[in-house]
Amino acid sequence: MRAGISPAETGGPGVGPLRLTEREFTLFQTLVEREAGLHLGPSKQALLVGRLSRRVRALGLPSFGAYYRLVTARGNEEERVRMLDCLCTNETHFFREPEHFEFLRQRVFPEWTQRAAQGLMERRVRVWSAGCSTGEEPYSLAMALLSHFPRGSGWGVEVLATDLSTWALERAKQGLWPLEKAASIPRPLLRAFMLEGVRSQEGWMKAGRELREVLRFARVNLSDECGWPTGPFELVFCRNVLIYFGAQARARALSALLRRLPPTGYLFLGHAESLTGSAEPARCVAPNIYCANSPPPAGQGTP
Ligand SMILES: C[S@@+](CC[C@H](N)C(=O)[O-])C[C@H]1O[C@@H](n2cnc3c(N)ncnc32)[C@H](O)[C@@H]1O
Repeated sequence: MRAGISPAETGGPGVGPLRLTEREFTLFQTLVEREAGLHLGPSKQALLVGRLSRRVRALGLPSFGAYYRLVTARGNEEERVRMLDCLCTNETHFFREPEHFEFLRQRVFPEWTQRAAQGLMERRVRVWSAGCSTGEEPYSLAMALLSHFPRGSGWGVEVLATDLSTWALERAKQGLWPLEKAASIPRPLLRAFMLEGVRSQEGWMKAGRELREVLRFARVNLSDECGWPTGPFELVFCRNVLIYFGAQARARALSALLRRLPPTGYLFLGHAESLTGSAEPARCVAPNIYCANSPPPAGQGTP
């Protein structure tokens, strides 16, 4: 065995896999949906075992039942945060769904420029990446924004990056990724905004100062509107997050996200997501892109 790893972390010599009973699974399902809005359907039993076993063992606990009692004990908020960290799916990459960034470049940025010139908006935009994972989405947004509205152009840009997972947020704050991640960043933006690591950071890529200056980070639970930023945000990106939510939590979150937009703002969802269930009026303007309350252009209906 490698030095420095305790038997608890490896499962321990001679210890078989932990068994999750149906009753325990139901208890965790209810807890996770209540705490984070995440719906663990029956097919997610193996996922729960896979993601929590190591934590249960590391704590030296004999069963999932014992872990459930620990995690639900009064005052054990810290362990609930750890549990959710283990259960969140953090997959992401730079410029994911490139057509969304094309929409910004071709439609949104010229629209802002024109409206500002007409005195209809201030030269100041706030953008929210809700469910930002390890940062690839908000840093992509910052690169897209700053390449159009650079420092010194008279425009002020702020990107708020939030997630439930403290682990993912820490990684996002570091702004450091393996160099392979650079492959999906357009070359000119890579050259303008990212730094290639040297010496101890060889093989890594780091966000440059200009990007760091416009980014803010916070832990925000999208299933509990109480702790949300108030907005308004000209753009809200909430992509590939609500797909993991139960129907009610998803509908609540969608309505609350739409309420954070000004009438000319846009909400971006993931490619497999839609506004189904939301009570707020909104108009689909491109695949998975929604505009808040503004009326459709003359001659067009609401889809
Ligand atoms: C698959 S990633 C999507 C990342 C990015 N938006 C993208 O499309 O590439 C989903 C993220 O949602 C976060 N998440 C899950 N439940 C959440 C909740 N209740 N509140 C906030 N974030 C949540 C996870 O921690 C994870 O980082």
